[in-house]
Order: sequence, then structure tokens, then C-alpha cells
Amino acid sequence: MRSVMLGVGSYLPTRVLTNAELAKRVDTSDEWIRERTGIRQRHIAAEGERTSDLAIDASRKALEAAGREAKDIDLIIVATTTPDLTFPATAARVQAALDVHQGAAFDLQAVCSGFIFALATADNFLARGQAKTALVIGAETFSRLLDWEDRGTCVLFGDGAGAVVLEAQADAGDRGVISTFIRTDGRMHDLLYVDGGPSQTQTTGKVRMIGNAVFRQAVEHISGAMLEACARAQVSIDAVDWFVPHQANQRILDGVARKLGIPVDKVVSTVGVHGNTSAASVPLALDAAVQDGRIKPGQLVLMEALGGGLTWGAALVRL
Ligand code: UT7
Repeated sequence: MRSVMLGVGSYLPTRVLTNAELAKRVDTSDEWIRERTGIRQRHIAAEGERTSDLAIDASRKALEAAGREAKDIDLIIVATTTPDLTFPATAARVQAALDVHQGAAFDLQAVCSGFIFALATADNFLARGQAKTALVIGAETFSRLLDWEDRGTCVLFGDGAGAVVLEAQADAGDRGVISTFIRTDGRMHDLLYVDGGPSQTQTTGKVRMIGNAVFRQAVEHISGAMLEACARAQVSIDAVDWFVPHQANQRILDGVARKLGIPVDKVVSTVGVHGNTSAASVPLALDAAVQDGRIKPGQLVLMEALGGGLTWGAALVRL
């Protein structure tokens, strides 16, 4: 049984926030942000626009691309760090809005690694026969968690959503999710966190990050996860057609490519125009490269991410 990726969709809020605008709010510059991160702009959700709204739009597009309907979906996983409410799950609102009346829907929290964790989770449900067709979504309104006076974090993040439809198929040939690898090391909890939450402070809190410490962990663990996903599938990294990384920083993308000897033109980069959209970044980048015709059916795609927790992981998929 293989989990075949039948369709991808994504959504970006209309409002674009440029580096120049940010330079008016905090002590930063377009030059610093571009040089240190590669980010030129990011999208910001409108007032009243919720994570579920972004997720619903991306999901509708993914369903259309997949040729599937609400009646086919029996599992919805929303990877998010910015749920609409503390409870119920954002996935419940997504399920209702899509008119899905069967199966389970829940949120998954692995911050920027959320989409990879959700993909691995859905793949396991499908492999065990506990669901047939899953919507796996990464959706964030990360701007709501930003301290707009902290130049070390507010310039990095943006909002958006991406979704894929996965279907269990017995006769998929070599298509589908081939291997996944996910990992958490809670000892690095304090490198990247939000200083609020219902249990600890009864507030939502703001993002806090020791950026250069996370950066040092990122290249090493992302490279390791990619090699592990390939090893589990007995596939060489050279056989991969496209690398779709979590979009945190262009220097991380370049560092990983250098370390593993990957040609840069095989790496999909959207960080310049999306910024870091946390759990949404991988499916947003995947959709961008599918839409513009770079990624074609039958090609081998390796996705990866690292985020708060720390969490990290990779997923190897033949489209
Ligand atoms: O998605 C989850 C995972 N997250 C990541 O992977 C993020 C990983 N980290 C990074 O991408 C980078 O560490 C950052 C982009 C966050 C920071 O870049 P850096 O090259 O590591 O800079 P730094 O934190 O070491 O700071 C260097 C200097 C500092 O000034 P001093 O102390 O040298 O005077 C900062 O205060 O840059 C300063 N700085 C800024 N200057 C202008 C930090 N942020 C800014 C800013 N504008 N926005």
C-alpha cells in the first residue's frame, strides 16, 4: 500500500509586507534582511483572516488538483502553530467548511517541521488501512505571534497555507510516499519558543529565538534527516530530482546543498517571496514548483524541515 500524492494546492494572503516597510518599524534594512536571509517580502493575513481560512482555500485547490471531493476525504491533519483557537482543533473548522462528514480531523504541532510530521502521520494511517484519502495541510498566521519590536524575529516570518491530498493505493507502482524520518530533541526547547500559552501564562505569547544557535543546528540536522530518508528508501541523494526545503533562510538552503553536493538548480526556493511560513512553507514551495511546471509527475522529491522543539525531518515522495 502506497500513499500517493494526488494533488497540491496553496494560498497566500493578499497583503505583501516589504523589507522597506519593516525598516520603518524596527532598526533594520532591506540590505541586512536580503543578505542574511534572502527574504525580500512576506504575505500577512488580513485582520479577521484566520488560519482555518487559509487552510480551507489551499485545501479546495488541492482537492481540485487531485480530482477528489469532500465525500472521499476521511482524514484531515492540519499542521499549525497558530490555531484559530486553543480548542477545538483548526482541523475541525476546516472539515466543516469543506463539507467533509466522515473520518477524523485533528491538528498537529511540530512548528516549522509540522508538515513533514503530518505527512509522516497520514502516511502511517493510510499504510495501516485506517484511512483511505487524507488532506495534509500546513497553515499558519505566524504574523500573529510576532513581537513587532524584535528585529531578530519580526523580519523573518510570513503567513500562508499549503495542502496535499494523499490516497492509499495498492497498485501505485513506484509512486507515493517512499520514506519519512521525523525527530524531536526537547533539550533544545529554549532555542525557539513562544513565551505564552494556556497552561503556563494564560496568554498567546510572542516568538523568541536564539537565531544563530538554531542556524547552527539546522544545517547539520537537516542534512542528516535527508540522508536518513534516502537511506531508508535505499535511494542515493543523486537520484532525487527536486529538493523542497523548509524556507527559513537562503543561507541554510545553500549550506545544506553545499554539504550534500546538491546542484542549486535542483533546490526549490521561495523564501525570497514568502519568508518563513513555518508549517506552510514546504507545501507552499511544492505547489509553486508544481504550478510552474518544474516538478513533473513521476519525479522524485525530497522535502525537509527543522523547527521549534527542536523538531526536524524529511520525506521522500515520488509524485
Ligand atoms: O524555521 C525555524 C527555524 N529557524 C531558523 O532556521 C532560523 C535560523 N536562524 C537564522 O536564520 C539566522 O540566525 C538569523 C537570520 C535569525 C540571524 O542571522 P545571523 O547571521 O545568525 O545574525 P545574528 O543573530 O548572529 O546577529 C548578527 C547581528 C547582531 O548584531 P551585533 O550583536 O553583531 O551587533 C544582531 O543584533 O545582526 C543583528 N540583527 C539585525 N540587524 C539588522 C539581528 N536581526 C537584525 C535585523 N536587522 N533584522
